[in-house]
Amino acid sequence: MENEYILVKQTPKLQGSVKVSGAKNSVLKLMAAAILIPGETRISNVPDIADVRLMQQVLESLGIKVGWPASDVVSIDATELNSHRAPYELVAHMRASTAVLGPLAARLGRASVALPGGCAIGSRKIDMHISGLEALGAHCHIEHGYIEVEVPEAGLKATEVTLDFPSVGATENLVLAAVGAQGKTTISNAAREPEISDLVDFLIAAGVSIEGRGTTKLVVEGILSANLKTGFEHKVVGDRIEAGTFLVAGALVGGPVTVTGFDPEHLTIVLKKLRETGADIAILDDGVCIERTGPIKAISIQTLPFPGFPTDMQAQFMTLMSVAQGSSIITENVFENRFMFADEIARMGADIRIEGHHALVNGVQELSGAPTVSPDLRGGAALVLAGLVAEGETRVSSLHHIDRGYEQFSEKLQSLGARIERFSS
Ligand code: EPZ
Repeated sequence: MENEYILVKQTPKLQGSVKVSGAKNSVLKLMAAAILIPGETRISNVPDIADVRLMQQVLESLGIKVGWPASDVVSIDATELNSHRAPYELVAHMRASTAVLGPLAARLGRASVALPGGCAIGSRKIDMHISGLEALGAHCHIEHGYIEVEVPEAGLKATEVTLDFPSVGATENLVLAAVGAQGKTTISNAAREPEISDLVDFLIAAGVSIEGRGTTKLVVEGILSANLKTGFEHKVVGDRIEAGTFLVAGALVGGPVTVTGFDPEHLTIVLKKLRETGADIAILDDGVCIERTGPIKAISIQTLPFPGFPTDMQAQFMTLMSVAQGSSIITENVFENRFMFADEIARMGADIRIEGHHALVNGVQELSGAPTVSPDLRGGAALVLAGLVAEGETRVSSLHHIDRGYEQFSEKLQSLGARIERFSS
């Protein structure tokens, strides 16, 4: 895996239709939510990506049985748990493992999860997760690099929590913990990403009463684990970021490219911004068709929590702006260090200047292909997109980043006509 790389050549035409997989940033939390349920649950439309396999290992390390009735259907049976500890060697590779904190605290009254390291895009703190759990009555402390959570004998108590920032992970952890708290817990300034609503739908299917789906105020009524429903199946929401990535590819090369398998309402701002760059967008009932015939116009964006422009689309958009007519300012408001990608695409001739949270992108006539290294998941995908329009060929290595979140990324692009191939050196 480490010595694999993608070779992408300048591609004169991209067209056709591609279907996205289930959302990485939902399925990992749905799998964590299954910890709450003392029986079997099934999750369908599961993407075949590395992070799902890692989350399976985390669940199995807790004594949970995980099976695959179909290639995209996972069965999770959490009747028995024999551990409350998510080991460092797993958590270190996947920050999303912290999503097991809340359900373990709710189900077992104890949780021990290795502190997630930082990563290329920022320190990835979890102070809001911890303060929220403490507001529910849990005692948290850090010891030997692990977060230790202990719930008093009396159990978690419903409370009112207001998040300082609409953190996706903190919202999810607190919703999951609140399922095990007696009474109604209110989470204000909650994140509203579609993946949160997908988690809420899963919990409602399990018999949890939750009000405020899709709003910044969630009210979760605690329920005894034994009273939760088992044996239901939940379909993962389509991956809006994977969809946005392929739509940017269509805007870059020209299209028409049709992307299906997701809800266009989950990309409203991205579609609006792509239209402003000069792309024609047609909303279909199961996706979007994009085509660009004129020049790419430079426009500015700033990343914000949903429904704002998603930070996970920032690098892909930077690629588009790097060959636009004019200059654009890209402001990253969500993560403190998410411009690593700029250094890599600059090696392909992009003209980008970073000033704190702002990147000034002066569009150039043409990028030139070069050997590059993926700095992170979305940066890696954005480098592949850059290779589609760069003169010559571009080599993208460190593919483990892309494999974490994109199922068959090069194959899907190939099906649209991309001159792309994956090699093992
Ligand atoms: C989720 O990360 C996603 N990951 C990220 O996607 C996504 O970029 C992010 O939400 C924002 O949409 C998964 O769902 C697995 P946050 P998460 O908590 O939950 C700070 C991708 O490419 N913060 O909303 O970690 C934090 O440091 C990945 O698919 C605190 O300070 O995001 C960050 O600056 C990348 N304290 C900001 O909030 C906390 O307790 C947003 O983080 C929690 C977060």
